[in-house]
Amino acid sequence: MESLLTEIDHIAIAVRDIEAAIAWYAEALGARVVHREDVVSDGVSEALIKVGDSYIQLLTPLRDDSTVAAFLERRGEGLHHVGYRVANCAAALAAVKAAGGRVLDDVPRPGSRATTIAFVHPTASFGTLIELVEESSATPATR
Ligand code: CO
Repeated sequence: MESLLTEIDHIAIAVRDIEAAIAWYAEALGARVVHREDVVSDGVSEALIKVGDSYIQLLTPLRDDSTVAAFLERRGEGLHHVGYRVANCAAALAAVKAAGGRVLDDVPRPGSRATTIAFVHPTASFGTLIELVEESSATPATR
């Protein structure tokens, strides 16, 4: 079987103060934000910092009932999930399900940057929350 993963899309880091985190990456590492977006359906605000062809995705909750708010409460700040770029999100999701994987999204849904995404539950993937990310022609070309 050929790999369904084409690249690392992003490493997502949950933070309480996204402005402080953005400032830290700029001051300590010279790394700049190339995209900001509120994903209201997920209750999160994101800032993307470009690293090669991939991103660091700083994530902070917009609401107390967001899953990222629950994560910060339970685990504190830090690594939240890894986004793998795939050519076809539906096909990758079907492959995970066929392999017995537990998924959080039964069907692909819209993500930030006009991507199509689906999450795989960490209990099915050795403790890592995985996001399958399919870019589209409408995805802003920051790369
Ligand atoms: Co993500």
